[in-house]
Amino acid sequence: MDAWLESGAFGRASVPSGASTGAAEAHELRDGDPDRYAGLGVLKAVANVNHDIAQALGGVDALDQQRVDDLLVALDGTPQLVRLGANAILGTSLAVCRAAAQASQQQLYQRVAQLCGVAAPSLPLPMTNILSGGLHAGRGMDVQDFLAVPVGAATVAEAIHLLARVRTAASEVACKRGLPTLLADEGGLSPGLESGRAALQMMVEAIAHAGLKPGVDIAIAIDVAASTLQGPDGAYRFAREGLQRTGAETIAMLASWVDEFPVVSIEDGLGEEDWSGWADLTCALGDRVQLVGDDLFATNAVRLQRGIAGGVANGVLVKANQNGTVSGTLAVIAQAKSAGYATIVSARSGETEDTFMSDIAVGSAAGQIKIGSLRTSSTVAKYNQLLRIEEHSGAAYAGIRSMRGRHGPR
Ligand code: PGA
Ligand code: ZN
Repeated sequence: MDAWLESGAFGRASVPSGASTGAAEAHELRDGDPDRYAGLGVLKAVANVNHDIAQALGGVDALDQQRVDDLLVALDGTPQLVRLGANAILGTSLAVCRAAAQASQQQLYQRVAQLCGVAAPSLPLPMTNILSGGLHAGRGMDVQDFLAVPVGAATVAEAIHLLARVRTAASEVACKRGLPTLLADEGGLSPGLESGRAALQMMVEAIAHAGLKPGVDIAIAIDVAASTLQGPDGAYRFAREGLQRTGAETIAMLASWVDEFPVVSIEDGLGEEDWSGWADLTCALGDRVQLVGDDLFATNAVRLQRGIAGGVANGVLVKANQNGTVSGTLAVIAQAKSAGYATIVSARSGETEDTFMSDIAVGSAAGQIKIGSLRTSSTVAKYNQLLRIEEHSGAAYAGIRSMRGRHGPR
């Protein structure tokens, strides 16, 4: 998506797409023509940008991001942006924001910081997919992602180096064990292990094989993506294990993992509509680990408010394309922060070369960022952008203080 301002300033952006999407996410408009990209073409969304959206934004002040985003949402006229498509709307919103940054001679993260009133941007603690299953790896494992969190690093540069060492070591461990070393979505491995416990053991082995201390240099984050395991009866199906668990049994399983392994963060530990289970999960584990809502909150202010009111989770995953606009996304970050929730700006499994998310994470002082392994150009681009900002901005590194649970602020 390209945006030109009258001054000649220019902004370009692209939007990602997810594989394990939440039902409450803003709507991604696809053509549905089976003869073109298996129905996934976006000619309709592109036409919406070139006609309705271009017409509505002509003459609007690009420096007024809130007005631009309000206009886009009103022009769509539906809560989940189904008419014009959240892909069309977000692409426009991001491109306008970039053009406005250029027009005001700001770095993009500075523009984001100004939009959200953040005086001290910060560099985020990254987390990275190392082992994957679920919809990110042909359901080779029940749990979707096991991630490394470089809790021992003092800078982003050091954090990225630690993550690269663990990813390489994980490949070597897989090789040694005769497991596949092919890439899963987001650049992790897809070892196809039979249980979560086996995957956690392999994570610890990989960390140690990298010459690092589990829990000291590198801790573990889990994205269960439990909505993808839940059947219509509410039970969670762990097909690889040949087991079915109730919500309470799933919480007990997660608690046992926290007891045995250096797990610091659990995302989507229960399904996206299991609000009472989530409240129990938060009671059981919320002061020990970070509990992150992804599908649960869908970067949506109303859902997040319900969670805050109900004592559900203590962190929110932030995906701009779940929300649909820059302003809406930044508002969710502000809302989460004022409730004391952690904010983790996240990539999607279908990413592009766009690095906007790195600037959102820094500019909003989100504290954490989730990006795939250093294996594809789309992820390397985002880490490179963090490194550039680290080198030039003088912003502080948020590090482990940005986590909730036992590492979080008291
Ligand atoms: P995605 O999900 O495949 O929908 O991008 C990633 C995640 O669950 O965090
Ligand atoms: Zn997730």
